[in-house]
Amino acid sequence: MEALRIYTEKPYCLQGEVTVSGAKNAVLPAIAACLLTEDALELNNVPLVKDVQTMLTLISELGASCALDEKHRTLTLQAKKIKSTEAPYKLVRAMRASILVLGPLLARSGQATVALPGGCAIGTRPVDLHISGLQKLGANLKIEHGYIIAEARRLKGTEIEFEKKTVTGTENLVMAACLARGETVLKNCALEPEVVNLCELLVKMGAKIDGIGEETLRITGSRDLGGAKHRVIPDRIETGTFMVASALTRGDLILKEVEPRHIEAITDKLIIAGSQVEQVSPNIIRVRGSEEIKPQDITTAPYPGFPTDMQAQFMVLMTQANGRSIITETIFDRRFAHANELLRLGASIEIEGDKAIIKGKTSLSGAEVMATDLRASACLVLAGLIATGQTTINDIEHLDRGYERIEEKLRQLGVRIERFISNNNNHRKVEVKS
Ligand code: EPZ
Repeated sequence: MEALRIYTEKPYCLQGEVTVSGAKNAVLPAIAACLLTEDALELNNVPLVKDVQTMLTLISELGASCALDEKHRTLTLQAKKIKSTEAPYKLVRAMRASILVLGPLLARSGQATVALPGGCAIGTRPVDLHISGLQKLGANLKIEHGYIIAEARRLKGTEIEFEKKTVTGTENLVMAACLARGETVLKNCALEPEVVNLCELLVKMGAKIDGIGEETLRITGSRDLGGAKHRVIPDRIETGTFMVASALTRGDLILKEVEPRHIEAITDKLIIAGSQVEQVSPNIIRVRGSEEIKPQDITTAPYPGFPTDMQAQFMVLMTQANGRSIITETIFDRRFAHANELLRLGASIEIEGDKAIIKGKTSLSGAEVMATDLRASACLVLAGLIATGQTTINDIEHLDRGYERIEEKLRQLGVRIERFISNNNNHRKVEVKS
């Protein structure tokens, strides 16, 4: 198991520049979209994160060829033929987003067998809205031995209204509808930028989609789609994570290759907390932390509301605010596991149902902590920047799923941080790949 250790003789004051990577949650559906065509897709600004590798393993098993140019962060994909229609449990368990092959496989080859993604550290994570949506498009789906077994001669367009906003549910249904017969109207769609980015890719591939960026999408299906070149949008959650890092350490960070429009809810909250956020150019922002961090209440919500994927990172910030803050998590039913680890560093947090009550300002002291999920890992790295002494974060496989070489980016900002193999007491440092 790999771990990260942060040495903090005194709290850091981060200064310098960070280039944000492409969005994990945009590249994953874009990779799945390659199953919709025999032609080649070229994706640019691809983040070098573990979930991309997992998705590439999955679509290779389905028959797609993939070539990732790490230097240029370009990915070429082509599913000339579908040689298998099964997404095995071992891959789906590793990454829930594997469910994104269900719609494209069904639409392209008329069948799909996808392992049911189980729950995870942040909640039960059902996929009932994916299943019911595909059934409305005329597919027969049954659940057997932990697998979704789906078949459909040809999907037929219809009107579907999502009971609640679902990001990957919207993405699955949009992709399936692109090859369905006739028009599909999807209502109460998720508005996340990653959904918009996928729709823009599908249109480049020849799909006819009206209402992109709105809650109602109209998709006119076609027999087939073609290839395309496409740039993945910046990762708004990585952007937000570094914005919080600057706020937390009274820093002064320049963040490059960002999309300011996608982080407005995060920016608003940071400004209320006392930070200064300035747009230096179309894709560059400057974030300066303040001496005093002001408490505030946050409620997570679907985009354009405050993102649930930033909840853990903000919780750390609120431990340093002068006063009481309440975070209400409305998206997932178990997304406070990081609070227990923050308590071990000295934070004062009480959990009451869907609310976390944080009393600040508390001084944090370094300790050994455990990462439970991707964003909880990021929150613990942030805490390590201000917790005096050493903070060791175990199980950073979670972190590597969604953050590209975060320790290298932090090291460039002056942070003493190292990655090592941690098995009991034997800690062997991991040589950083150049
Ligand atoms: C996407 O997950 C993201 N993952 C998550 O990011 C993100 O936290 C989440 O959207 C919410 O914004 C990817 O895009 C790969 P949902 P997704 O379907 O699509 C319920 C990260 O850290 N629901 O929008 O799985 C569900 O339980 C990850 O990068 C159903 O009830 O989330 C939740 O309460 C974590 N039935 C709510 O809807 C369904 O069929 C929103 O979930 C589907 C969802």
